Amino acid sequence: MNDSEKWITVATRDSVDVGSVVAVKAGELDVALYNIDGEIYATHNICTHAHAYLSDGWLDGDIIECPLHGGRFAAKTGKGLGAPITCDIKTLPVRIEGDSVQVNIA
Ligand code: FES
Repeated sequence: MNDSEKWITVATRDSVDVGSVVAVKAGELDVALYNIDGEIYATHNICTHAHAYLSDGWLDGDIIECPLHGGRFAAKTGKGLGAPITCDIKTLPVRIEGDSVQVNIA
């Protein structure tokens, strides 16, 4: 697999409004896309604490709060921001190709 084959189109650019988070699939992988001040970021969507979708939570600036127990992550870096979170969440590289949002799942 070469580098270009690792990029997967997951959304159109205008499907992620500024200040919002949406759930998408990259193959089998659940991914959350965030639009923070017009830039798109991606993390795995399932919380590292238990089974909840971060895309069902609340994006406040660049902080995503899990809907289940209120754990918080920095959406740009995936860093967990304290209890009950003990593991950071994985981020995915994002690029814009025309009107498409692509993530790299390599
Ligand atoms: S499942 Fe996300 S904080 Fe518990």
